[in-house]
Amino acid sequence: MEDSGIDPIALAKATEICKNCKNVVIGKGNEKAEILFIGEAPGRNEDEQGLPFIGVAGKNLDKLLEEVGLSLNDIYITNILKCRPPENRNPLIDEIKAHTPWLIKQIKEMKPKVICSLGNYATKFFLANGEVDKMDSQLGITSVHGKVKILDFLGLKIKLIPLFHPAAIIYNRTLIAEWDKDMEIVKKEIAQKSLI
Ligand code: URA
Repeated sequence: MEDSGIDPIALAKATEICKNCKNVVIGKGNEKAEILFIGEAPGRNEDEQGLPFIGVAGKNLDKLLEEVGLSLNDIYITNILKCRPPENRNPLIDEIKAHTPWLIKQIKEMKPKVICSLGNYATKFFLANGEVDKMDSQLGITSVHGKVKILDFLGLKIKLIPLFHPAAIIYNRTLIAEWDKDMEIVKKEIAQKSLI
């Protein structure tokens, strides 16, 4: 996670996925909020409209937020990649390296107290303490979902709550019971007066 001195936005925008996408998807919600949700990458709908989580996965995320009593005013939502990979393929390691400095810039500005990482990519990025080359060797979301971890990330104390990606529960209905349990954890963690 070294600081190359290169403008992180220019670095991300120089990638092929950014040159070929319709819209760069930066985020939505309240940039001053204490809770940050981080997904993987924009899909087709997000690319069309320039906003994260507005497709089917977005509907699940909206439900999650409603269940735990959060509105877009209480949170900010962004992704590991700011542009849609073709055919929604998985992010490439070089893309993650080129795009996460932008995410880090967002985190430095926002200073969130809680990060809900949605799915494997966002979760492994934080478990690897931002070292992209170490993401592969981290435990996957199936092992760590719902397990709260206090991070020391960029000198910030952050409560990490790993969650299944909202798209995963569309394709694997057996995850719903696990998802519901995780929602109880999110509710409990954000109900604490001091988030960390
Ligand atoms: N999936 C994501 O990870 N992010 C989005 O913005 C939409 C779908």
